[in-house]
Amino acid sequence: MNQLSRPQPVPFIDLAAQRQRLGKAVDEAVARVLGHCQFINGPEVSQLEAALAAFSGARHVVTCASGTDALLMVLMAKGVGPGDAVLCPSFTFCATGEAVALTGATPVFVDVDEDTFNMDAASLKSGIATARKRGLRPVGVIPVDLFGQSADHDAVAAVAEAEGLFVLDDAAQGFGASYKGRRLGTFGLATATSFFPAKPLGCFGDGGAIFTDDAALAETLRSIRVHGQGADKYDNVRLGLTGRLDTMQAAILIEKLKIFEDEIEARNKVADRYARGLGNVVTVPRLASGCNSVWAQYTIRLPKGTDRDGFAAALKAQGIPTAIYYTKSMHQQTAYRNFPVADGGLPVSERLSDDVISLPMHAYLDEATQDRIVAAVRGAVST
Ligand SMILES: Cc1ncc(COP(=O)(O)O)c(C=O)c1O
Repeated sequence: MNQLSRPQPVPFIDLAAQRQRLGKAVDEAVARVLGHCQFINGPEVSQLEAALAAFSGARHVVTCASGTDALLMVLMAKGVGPGDAVLCPSFTFCATGEAVALTGATPVFVDVDEDTFNMDAASLKSGIATARKRGLRPVGVIPVDLFGQSADHDAVAAVAEAEGLFVLDDAAQGFGASYKGRRLGTFGLATATSFFPAKPLGCFGDGGAIFTDDAALAETLRSIRVHGQGADKYDNVRLGLTGRLDTMQAAILIEKLKIFEDEIEARNKVADRYARGLGNVVTVPRLASGCNSVWAQYTIRLPKGTDRDGFAAALKAQGIPTAIYYTKSMHQQTAYRNFPVADGGLPVSERLSDDVISLPMHAYLDEATQDRIVAAVRGAVST
């Protein structure tokens, strides 16, 4: 194939299209920060926190340096440490379990639901029993709103309440989605999210936020994000981090939040169209009743026996990128394979790691490009 006949490459996520839509708004927001020079804790940080609280319905929002710090800071605030167990799904990005392990506590991995890819409440119960059998004290659970779809928060809350565990929702991929009509950010003790650029609401660097209705927790988190500072700036009262979101990223996020609702709607249209075009050749994602998604990823499952690498190569040859989230579940990765898994094992997580693949997904995917992707997928599974 010569240079001229090579198909136009499709972006997996089109940040340039979004940048174009935002026009001068982001440039002006950045210029304002460059003007006032309050690069740390500038006025945009509290403005963003107020806007995120209004958007989500959470009483308190504490922005921070990343989604990983958001998880870690809540665990630190709860005093989680050695001897404690925190239950996490295994089929997730590594930061979910990593934050637990960083505190010295033990992540105990549980399985996910085959259709939604989110935490399976029955496996959660069995993971709690596994933790106790190992002499660990189960203290918390981290459901993940994977690929943008809210977890089954009622089912998780029922188990957590019965067992006396706090719930820390990992909405790094799901912020903006809702569950039974309520936006994420308002479930459990606290919610963590990430503003990594590829996330549905991303900044132009690293960033994150924590949402909670608990005023005392919010105050502790504000201390932890500045090295555990107390009322007297030079008397640090607990361990903390350099955990702040910088003012420039806050200014960018304020502008991006203004178009976020509209982008969520556009992502849902793209997802609906994929489902119509692909539903009879691959397993398309299923939304559980009461759950919706911001489609951080559009993840399909290939028919049994499909060569996934061959499928990806066929799409690549047509200029269409794919990604595999996740080729290994957490309990299969080198750093995590010695942590406990729920009794009964994690067969669903392992199956998903073998057959999922994600297609380009963003709010600016036009119909013609999407038709190209649909045709390529259909062609690749039928060969
Ligand atoms: C489920 C999940 N949790 C946590 C994180 C961590 O976020 P960050 O990369 O901002 O630290 C991510 C980021 O990819 C994620 O997908």
